[in-house]
Amino acid sequence: MSENEQRSAVSVIGLGQMGTRLAQAFLAAGHATAVWNRTAAKADALVAQGAVRAETAEAAITASPLVVVCLPDYATALELLGPVATSLRGRTLVNLTSGTPEEAARMAGWAAGHGADYLDGAAMSGTRLVGRPEALFVFSGSPETFAAHRWVLASLGNATHLGADPALAPVYDTALFGLAWGALAGFYHSAALVGASGVDPSTFAAVATGHMPFVVSLMAEHARQIGDGRFPDDDGTVEVHAAAMRHLLDTSRAGGIGTDVPQLFSDLLDRAATAGHAASGIASVIETIAAGERNA
Ligand SMILES: NC(=O)c1ccc[n+]([C@@H]2O[C@H](COP(=O)([O-])OP(=O)(O)OC[C@H]3O[C@@H](n4cnc5c(N)ncnc54)[C@H](OP(=O)(O)O)[C@@H]3O)[C@@H](O)[C@H]2O)c1
Repeated sequence: MSENEQRSAVSVIGLGQMGTRLAQAFLAAGHATAVWNRTAAKADALVAQGAVRAETAEAAITASPLVVVCLPDYATALELLGPVATSLRGRTLVNLTSGTPEEAARMAGWAAGHGADYLDGAAMSGTRLVGRPEALFVFSGSPETFAAHRWVLASLGNATHLGADPALAPVYDTALFGLAWGALAGFYHSAALVGASGVDPSTFAAVATGHMPFVVSLMAEHARQIGDGRFPDDDGTVEVHAAAMRHLLDTSRAGGIGTDVPQLFSDLLDRAATAGHAASGIASVIETIAAGERNA
C-alpha cells in the first residue's frame, strides 16, 4: 500500500490547462488534493498552493477515493491507467477527458471490469470560470456514485448529473458545444453586419445581450412543442421566418459581407417549407434536421 493511501479527498491526473484549474478549484474549496502530471514541473505551482505531489500516476490513484483524470483523449487515459488499473479497485474514477459516447461507454465498462465506479464528465465553460457557480460541469453514470461525490465535484461549479448512462456526458458535451457555437456564429455574423454600418462591436454586444433573455425563453417553449410534436404559429411560421431570412441575406449582401451563416438557416427553412411545414411554427424545422439525409 502506498504511503499516500487515502490521505487526500481527491486526486487529479493530468495538469494541463483544464486539469490545473480543476485541482485549483478543489484546493480552493478546502479539499485535500493530490496531483500528478507527466511533466512533473507543472505540479509545482499547485504544490505551492497546498496540493500533495504524487510521484507516479499509481500513487495519485491510491492517494484518494476519488480520482479525476483530464487528458487529451481516451486513448491516452487508457494507455496511462491500463498498467495501474488494479489500484482503481474500490475507488471512483471521474473522466473529464473529452471524447465520444462510444468511448465513454467503453471506459465505463473498462472501469467496472477493474472494480471501480465510474462517472464520465465534461467541462462546458472553458477554464476561466472553473470553481465558480456558473461553470457548468456535466456528469453521467451511477446516480449513487454521483451523490456520494457531489460535495467534492460541486467545487468545480454547477455540477449537473444527467443520468445513469455514462454516454450521456459526451452526448450533452457535443450538443451544448453545437449550441454555443451556433449562437456565436450568429453573433459573429451580426457583428459583421452592424460593423458594415459603422457600429462598434461592443456597442452592438450590449444591445444583443439585452435581447438574449427573449431568445433563451424560446428554448423552453419550443422544447415543449418538440416534445408534443405540435408546432403552433405563435412565434411565427416557417414561411414568415424564411421571408425574414431573405431580408437578412439581402442586407448582408448590400453590406458586402458573407452570407454563409444566415444562408445555412435560410436553406433549412426552405427545406422545412418544401416538406410541408410552411404554415407551421418555426420550431418545426427540427423535423427537417432530425430527418437528416432522408429529405435533404
Ligand atoms: N482547455 C479547455 O478550455 C477545455 C475545455 C473543455 C474541455 N477540455 C478537455 O480537457 C482535456 C484536457 O485539455 P487541456 O486543455 O487541459 O489539455 P492540455 O493543456 O493540452 O493538457 C494535456 C495534459 O495531458 C497530459 N498528457 C498528454 N499526453 C500524455 C500522455 N501520453 N501521458 C500522460 N499525460 C499526458 C499533458 O501532460 P504534459 O504536461 O506532460 O504534456 C497535460 O497534463 C481535453 O480532453 C479537452 O478537450 C479542455
